[in-house]
Amino acid sequence: MKLAILSRNTKLYSTRRLVEAARHRGHSVRVLDPLRCYMRIASDGFQMHYKGREIAGYHAVIPRIGASVTRYGSAVLRQFELMDSYSPNTSDAILRARDKLRSHQLLAAQGIGLPATVFGDNPDDTADLLSMLGPPPHVIKLNEGTQGAGVMLTEKLSASKGVIEALRGLYANFLVQEFVAEAKGADLRCFVVGDRVVAAMKRQAPKGDFRSNLHRGGTAKGVRASAAEQEVAVRAAQVLGLGVAGVDLIRSARGPLVLEVNASPGLEGIEEASGVDVAVEIVDFVAGQVREKPVRRLVARR
Ligand SMILES: Nc1ncnc2c1ncn2[C@@H]1O[C@H](COP(=O)(O)OP(=O)(O)OP(=O)(O)O)[C@@H](O)[C@H]1O
Ligand SMILES: [Mg+2]
Repeated sequence: MKLAILSRNTKLYSTRRLVEAARHRGHSVRVLDPLRCYMRIASDGFQMHYKGREIAGYHAVIPRIGASVTRYGSAVLRQFELMDSYSPNTSDAILRARDKLRSHQLLAAQGIGLPATVFGDNPDDTADLLSMLGPPPHVIKLNEGTQGAGVMLTEKLSASKGVIEALRGLYANFLVQEFVAEAKGADLRCFVVGDRVVAAMKRQAPKGDFRSNLHRGGTAKGVRASAAEQEVAVRAAQVLGLGVAGVDLIRSARGPLVLEVNASPGLEGIEEASGVDVAVEIVDFVAGQVREKPVRRLVARR
């Protein structure tokens, strides 16, 4: 197949591995910087150019769109979709997954376990908002936080209120969750490709922390997810419409709970910890989906 990888940087580990895997499988592959794709939108057809030349005829595109380019990147991806390229993660699915409140609502609506979560806008409502959650400890998370940096644990109600007050003063968006103590500082990253968990790793927080992020000093090791964990991870990806996803779970007394579904999960940590060639799994899945599509139009509609 003729494959495009949408990525800002060819040197990134995940991008390099996908290129290697595609070449290894005999596909033609090109990395395109989404910010250098520009497009014509008209009712008589869709066109895209890249550095002065027309882009057309891609059977599939694998998006590696970072959070900072979500809006423009998803418009570029949508243009590919309108030009009949297959993407394991559609532009709509990526936007769905990037919106934390929306994805929590969609997952919960399908009965997928999550830590109980509250959010609100007005400072006058904070006390009642916290009463909807139950007694502390609470986990307060910045919506824009990543790699554990915006995640705080409060042991007392006065601390929860104080942190929330401070965040509102900074105009930061956040949500508040019950603290799942049984997770014991560990979470489980399940890498979903299609309807399978192809690799999983357990991340353990360093002593004295409850956050298992590797950037916070956590350690990772490859594990086999249980049948129940695999099922929850695959369903979570499917509810959001993602063919490729990194689903983070924590183990609780009431079963696996979803923390996050990542639409552009990195390959480095998971390949290293699990020893699985995740890049090849993704490329083979995409090629299989392209083969199943009966007739594909290979040129842009005019
Ligand atoms: N409700 C919770 N109860 C117990 N531990 C939690 C809870 N929420 C998060 N944690 C721990 O804190 C870590 C960081 O939280 P989380 O993954 O939600 O934020 P992040 O990694 O900063 O952002 P994101 O994963 O959305 O990019 C988790 O990996 C987990 O170990
Ligand atoms: Mg996380």
